[in-house]
Amino acid sequence: MKLAVAGTGYVGLVAGVTFAEKGHNVTCVDIDEDKVELMRSGVSPIYEDGLEALMRKNYKAKKVEYTTDYKSAYKDADAIFIGVGTPEQPDGSANLSYIATVARQIAESIEKDCLVVVKSTVPVGTNDKVEQFIQDFLINDVRVEVASNPEFLAQGSAVHDTLQAERFIIGTESEWAENILKEIYEPFNIPIVSVNRRTAEMIKYASNDFLALKISYMNDIANLCELVGADIQDVAKGMSYDKRIGSKFLNAGIGYGGSCFPKDTQALNHLAQHNGYELKTIQSAIDVNEKQKTLLYRKANDRLITFNGLKVAVLGLTFKPGTDDLREAPSLENVPLLLDQGADVVAYDPVGAENFSKHYPEGKLSNGSIRYVSSVEEALEDANVCFVFTEWPEIKETSAELYKGLMRTPLVFDGRNIYSIDVMETAGVEYHSVGRRI
Ligand code: UGA
Repeated sequence: MKLAVAGTGYVGLVAGVTFAEKGHNVTCVDIDEDKVELMRSGVSPIYEDGLEALMRKNYKAKKVEYTTDYKSAYKDADAIFIGVGTPEQPDGSANLSYIATVARQIAESIEKDCLVVVKSTVPVGTNDKVEQFIQDFLINDVRVEVASNPEFLAQGSAVHDTLQAERFIIGTESEWAENILKEIYEPFNIPIVSVNRRTAEMIKYASNDFLALKISYMNDIANLCELVGADIQDVAKGMSYDKRIGSKFLNAGIGYGGSCFPKDTQALNHLAQHNGYELKTIQSAIDVNEKQKTLLYRKANDRLITFNGLKVAVLGLTFKPGTDDLREAPSLENVPLLLDQGADVVAYDPVGAENFSKHYPEGKLSNGSIRYVSSVEEALEDANVCFVFTEWPEIKETSAELYKGLMRTPLVFDGRNIYSIDVMETAGVEYHSVGRRI
């Protein structure tokens, strides 16, 4: 099939390249000329394992092309996938202006019957409006329908999550649309759940918000564990044997970040309020997460009284390993607090430092300073205290002896529960984590 994809972020680019890999002819459209040139030369604008290899292979085989020329990409496509961003607005609702722009371009370009498939996460009911919007601006006498096909990939494992997806959700309002999507996904050989359009939109929010709820629930229980002398990791292990609960997303820590859970919990909350309903569970998940992000900072503050003049090692800046994305990362909440208190922060992250330095450039800042280093060792050297914010493999593998040997005072606050308490204590490290024995 001839497919076009609008937007080359995580959702659009991965969809486009994996469709090409499965035999379709794909044109990926982006408004950014430089980005298009970069992709043509085989370089991915995002850090994602396995993506560049697939981009190069399919570009060479002429299965995927990149362009800013949306008209020629859309005019004879069998289906156009929309994967542009829907950023959160100050009131928690989703900003749909990028989708509207693409919808209008589609309406003004298509010259044959075409299915428009929205992959971006949009509030329930949005795709009804997108369809009406396209029909209002349509120039040629062609059939056009809008389907919902939410994306479930996670950053850092996007290619794997798509090629080995657990299911594809397709939300359509006609057999014609359903059949086109089934044909597109047939080569993936993965279960397809076919529902109506609004249900598909809701499945996306309900899934993401359930996972956010699961994390906040574990963080809530972790905080209680500390008070009553239980251990959250053993609690999670004990729970995980129950297949109804499952073993994933039970890790307590310093809260969830990223471009999805924070935004999608706010958006569903907003949708509920808009419909006169109070979504108490999701509101609680949001509240717990907000507090959790600065939990270790508060713990450390109690322990140290002040950070003024202290060398503070920060290990991990991104919201999770395997990505350079900083959106809603706990580091972005904690580092400014440390700087305000006069700390000299020395930060290490294998890929996130460059993005972080755009927010906090190296040098004197606020009442303290920040410096970026290229190894865990350099960050720990002479440090008075260390925070672990992201569980990158090299941080996980850092030995207790290294902390003890390099730090001026071996005091560690681990937001990801990655070390053994016994090993750290035996090595002489004062070790604090989340929901475990203090
Ligand atoms: C999430 C979902 O996992 C994907 O299924 C979904 O498609 C995606 O959002 C989206 O809507 O686009 P992502 O935000 O990339 O993916 O990352 P996750 O791996 O889900 O992690 C989110 C946050 O939760 C991270 O900050 C992570 O550290 C935190 N987390 C995760 C925990 O604190 N504990 C856990 O047990 C698991």
